[in-house]
Amino acid sequence: AHQWRGVIREYADRLPVTESTRVITLGEGGTPLVHAPALSAHTGNEVYLKVEGMNPTGSFKDRGMTMAITAAVEAGAKAVVCASTGNTSASAAAYAAQAGLTCAVLVPDGKISIGKLSQAVAHGAEILQVDGNFDNCLDVARKLSEAYPVFLVNSVNPARIEGQKTGAFEVVDFLGDAPDYHMLPVGNAGNITAYWKGYKEYAAPFTTNTGEELAAVSTKTPTMWGFQADGAAPIVKGHPITEPETIATAIRIGNPASWEQAETARDESGGLIDSVTDEEILAAHRWLSSKEGVFVEPGSAAGVAGLLKHHAAGDAPEGKTIVITVTGHGLKDPQWATQGLDGGSVVEPTKVAFDVVAVADALGL
Ligand code: F0G
Repeated sequence: AHQWRGVIREYADRLPVTESTRVITLGEGGTPLVHAPALSAHTGNEVYLKVEGMNPTGSFKDRGMTMAITAAVEAGAKAVVCASTGNTSASAAAYAAQAGLTCAVLVPDGKISIGKLSQAVAHGAEILQVDGNFDNCLDVARKLSEAYPVFLVNSVNPARIEGQKTGAFEVVDFLGDAPDYHMLPVGNAGNITAYWKGYKEYAAPFTTNTGEELAAVSTKTPTMWGFQADGAAPIVKGHPITEPETIATAIRIGNPASWEQAETARDESGGLIDSVTDEEILAAHRWLSSKEGVFVEPGSAAGVAGLLKHHAAGDAPEGKTIVITVTGHGLKDPQWATQGLDGGSVVEPTKVAFDVVAVADALGL
């Protein structure tokens, strides 16, 4: 049987690699596009979830990181650095471990989930907990890579965008054409940039890196809907947010590096970038786990929160094919399954004696 070979080997003719490139891969990509029956019925669309938590380190970052670490090795780098709200650092640490590179990660102190931090620890990264937010971390990481011999693997590195555009390729390859709408969370805005690049590339003839002419794969590109968290919504508000706040720590970003590219994706596709509250994010997170069987981390649910918000307002699409990227695994930040916004428990544990009748009673059987 065919085993998925990771995004670089699967899409080599559309990525900046050659036959002699040493590919650093953990088998990322090839993630399931799961039909979401409850969201489909509720909104009157065919809704699919691109479940990126199924990547090797549990988030979509792996698509970009296989390319970025491969490029770092090709450039002869000995060390890589990134700023991160958690997932990028987990991914960079894992791929750097395989490549034998030193990996330094700059994370906002106290604002990254324990699951993500433990991944960076496990993979042997140098972890610097910065007294500042993600935007401060990225600023320092950029300056460090300009002044010292370390290779920056944030999404401002074009290799990251190249790798992440494969998410769009997989959607089209699976559905047979582009969807009508693509919805996703927006943080540093690399992923919306990458998806839009991938969709545009697949909708036009393409000359591969070996000079082969490929026909267009899809007949259209989707309308892009991106969602920021309300307390961290610089693109929606039209200015950087100096103190971004949201429980969705993955997207707690006040000054996205790919701001302009995100606006280009929005405008060229006739789409929108909007915000969702922490309440809406947590409600979407619960919807996914309880109705669709898909467990994601809170920030990952922003796209679903956006669809539900616009459906409630009466201005969501109907009768369309909608793909929503859910970006990271629920086990990254599991506390939100059992805890509400006020910090209180949302589960009432049922205590029972080790007795079959007592258990049956407790279950109402
Ligand atoms: N969802 C998750 C789970 C993320 O970790 C991120 C970004 C996003 C969405 C937003 O994607 O930045 O491309 O717009 N996390 C970065 C990190 C910032 O450091 O892990 P984006």
